[in-house]
Amino acid sequence: MSTIGIRGTFFDFIDDPWKHVGKEQDAARFHKDGLLVVTDGIIADFGPYERVAAAHPGIVISHIKDRIIVPGFIDGHIHLPQTRILGAFGEQLLPWLQTWVYPEELKYKDRDYAREGVKRFLDALLASGTTTCQAFTSSSPVATEELFEEAARRNMRVISGLTGIDRNAPAEFIDTPENFYRDSKRLIATYHNKGRNLYAITPRFAYGASPDLLKACQRLKHEHPDCWVNTHISENPSECRGVLVEHPDCEDYLGVYEKFDLVGPKFSGGHGVYLTNGEFRRMSKKGAAVVFCPCSNLFLGSGLFRLGRATDPEHRVKMSFGTDMGGGNRFSMIQVLDDAYKVGMCNNTMLDGSIDPVRKDLAEAERNKLSPYRGFWSITLAAPKASTSTTSSATSRPARKPISSRSIRTAARSPSRGISRSPPRAAGRARSRKRPTCFSA
Ligand code: GUN
Ligand code: ZN
Repeated sequence: MSTIGIRGTFFDFIDDPWKHVGKEQDAARFHKDGLLVVTDGIIADFGPYERVAAAHPGIVISHIKDRIIVPGFIDGHIHLPQTRILGAFGEQLLPWLQTWVYPEELKYKDRDYAREGVKRFLDALLASGTTTCQAFTSSSPVATEELFEEAARRNMRVISGLTGIDRNAPAEFIDTPENFYRDSKRLIATYHNKGRNLYAITPRFAYGASPDLLKACQRLKHEHPDCWVNTHISENPSECRGVLVEHPDCEDYLGVYEKFDLVGPKFSGGHGVYLTNGEFRRMSKKGAAVVFCPCSNLFLGSGLFRLGRATDPEHRVKMSFGTDMGGGNRFSMIQVLDDAYKVGMCNNTMLDGSIDPVRKDLAEAERNKLSPYRGFWSITLAAPKASTSTTSSATSRPARKPISSRSIRTAARSPSRGISRSPPRAAGRARSRKRPTCFSA
């Protein structure tokens, strides 16, 4: 047994700052002079130096001065095989995938190319302070194998899985549902829960998935209920419209994943820019997570994620943050927070009522403000809760009641945010068929 101590200045979280409106520091823990005791790689003790040192006489202590030590960052949504095309110019999501992404990811069939790419990817993550990620790979198993192997050598925590697509991509890039099922099974048997590796059943997105591919995912989830499910959801308007054309029997984007029983406490959907209030509510009830990817949503021009709406206590959704590199042009979670702050402020231009008094919602505007506490919590303690908790955040009781939109709203209710399957005129007709799902009542 080997025990070491690290002495220095520490900052981390013990609770969710969104539950401590006006007193967010109550959610955090700061030791100007602290000691972390680690036994065989596991934290054995932590606290003020005087107390902890006295309890562990004789251990070897490294003293790190003039730094603040924080937990490793968690990237909830990133793409391994896009490392070499980060920053690709000039396209929104669907043409960007066709022009830049699929041709590059195809190269990861080659083991040497994949191995070198994995090293650069993990080096870049660690250089940015990220020690855990949930990563997409590619449609051939080589990239997934190489990622899990190298992550294990580095003792990093990686959640990943073969990234399935059988529609709307070049013929040489797509897979069949049968191959996807067979290869996923083998990869789960080899890598899930081996060391720190965890497996996510990964349909790339509903726009690239036939019902048969999603059925294969459903079967995998049924046979391996402890695996994660990782995908994209409601990122871009053209994509959202395309999903409803590909899956015409589904009411909305989330409905596609629900139809195949994929939405539950281990589900993460990246982006969620165009989720309606009704979809947020359903995700919240099922304990599913959304991953906020502001660098990517800005870089690809996808839109502004409604942070203050996702965190409404009436239907709060579990949330982690991600770079979505290479849609995001950064590896750094600090830059994710920087852009997330700006997205919240842009959203608030509508919510202060100065443009449209009907949309004034001061409570949502408050939740849109990503304070440093909310930000750092989101990329450390919150992220494992988003990807591992089995209880819905909707059921957990806040320490101090956060302000809900309903409780202080003075103007009319928020209008719809969802994407219709047809052009605007028809959209009005489609919506009038049923009760809007996106009102907050
Ligand atoms: N939707 C499907 N594939 C992708 C991808 O690679 N990146 C992003 N941002 N969205 C996607
Ligand atoms: Zn993505």
